[in-house]
Amino acid sequence: MPRSNRFISPDEIASEHWFRLATGLCPACKMVQVLEAPPGDEIFTADYSYLTSGTTAMRGHLKGVAQSLKLELRGRPDPFVVELGCNDGAMLHTIAEAGIRHLGVEPTQVHADYAASRGVSTLTEFFNAELATRIRDTSGPADIIFAANTICEIQDIRQVFDGAAILLGPEGMLIFEDPYLGDLVEKNAFDQICDEHVFYFSVHSVSELAQRCGLEVIDVEHLPVGGGELRYRLARRGCYQTKPSVQYHLAREARAGLSQLETFVAFAERVHSIARQLTDVLSECRARGQRVVGYGATMKSATVTNFCHITTELVEFVCDTTPAKQGLLTPGAHLPVRPPEAFADPYPDVALMFAWNHEAEIRAKEQAFTNSGGRWLRYVPEVALER
Ligand code: TYD
Repeated sequence: MPRSNRFISPDEIASEHWFRLATGLCPACKMVQVLEAPPGDEIFTADYSYLTSGTTAMRGHLKGVAQSLKLELRGRPDPFVVELGCNDGAMLHTIAEAGIRHLGVEPTQVHADYAASRGVSTLTEFFNAELATRIRDTSGPADIIFAANTICEIQDIRQVFDGAAILLGPEGMLIFEDPYLGDLVEKNAFDQICDEHVFYFSVHSVSELAQRCGLEVIDVEHLPVGGGELRYRLARRGCYQTKPSVQYHLAREARAGLSQLETFVAFAERVHSIARQLTDVLSECRARGQRVVGYGATMKSATVTNFCHITTELVEFVCDTTPAKQGLLTPGAHLPVRPPEAFADPYPDVALMFAWNHEAEIRAKEQAFTNSGGRWLRYVPEVALER
C-alpha cells in the first residue's frame, strides 16, 4: 500500500513509498493493530494534507465537543485543557475564545501555525512522557486532555498513556475519540485500515492499556461520526465511579467476538468478497460504456483503490473539495483528483461513494446528479449499485 494521505504529482510516481499493510490481533491485550506502519515523523510531515476543518460534519462535531468541554469545566478554578493533535485548531479555538487556558500539541507545522493564527497556543512536537512532564512543570496539571482521531495514529501508544498519567491532575480526564473496531467489523469497513490508523480500539483493548498506566475507562459513548467512533473517558483508577456504558460495551464486544481471531478471519473473507464484487460491478459499468467517477479523495479510498486494483480504466477521476488534493493523483492508484465542479461537467453515469461517512450530506447536495439519472455505487457495508 502507499501512504494513504500522500497525494502526488505525476513526477513523484517513481519515488512513491510502498509498504506492506497488514493487521494483527494481540493475543494478550486483544488490541488490533497495523503490524508495520511507517514511522509517524514520515507521515506527519510539514506538508501533511489532512485538515480537521475540511468537512462541515467534523467542524460541527468539534465545535460541539468544545461547547461540552466548556460546560464540564464550569466552576473549576483556572482550568487547563490540552489537545493532542489539535490540527488546525477546529476544537481548541473555541476553548481559546472562551479564555480557557489551553495548549494544542500538533507535530505538523503548517497546521500548528494555522491554529496559532486562530488564537490557539500550540507546541509543534509529538506527545510523549517527556513532553508531558515539561508541560506539567511549566503550566501545571491538565484538567482535560482531549484527542480526536489522533491517539489511534500514534505508534508508541504507551508513551501517550504514560504521558497522560503524568500530565493529568488528580481528578483530570483523558477524553479521546477514535474509529471503533466494533463498527469496522460490523460494517465491513475495511477501508478504515490504513497506514495512519495504527490501532483499531475496542473498550476491551483500551481498558487493558489504561490499566497498565494506572488509569481506567470510566465511560464510553458511541459517536455517529467518521463511520462510527467511540469516545472514551479515562481517569486515575478509583477516582470516579465507572458508568454502566463500559460494562454494556464490554458485553457487546464479547458477543461480537472482538477478542477472537476467528472473527477477523471471517471479516477478511467478507472483505475479499466485497473487493471481487466491486471490481466486477465497475468492470460491467465500463463494458456498457458508462463513466464512473469517485466521490471524495478520502484516506479510505486509498485502501479500496489499491486493494481492489482500481485504476483510471475503471474510475475516471475522483472529485474532492480539498484544494490541497486537487490537481494531484490519489496515492498508489493514481486517479486524478479534480474539484467538485468537474463532477457535474458532465455528470458521470455512476458515482463511487468513497466518502461514505458523509453520505447523507453528499447525497443531499448532489440531488441534481440523481435527478439526471446518475447512480451511486457503494461498498460499505456491502456492494450496492443504486437502481
Ligand atoms: P474524511 O471524512 O476525513 O475521510 P478520510 O479520513 O477517509 O480521509 O474525508 C472526507 C473527504 O471527502 C475530504 O477529502 C473532503 C471530501 N468531501 C468532498 O469532496 N465533498 C463533500 O461533500 C464532503 C462531505 C467531503
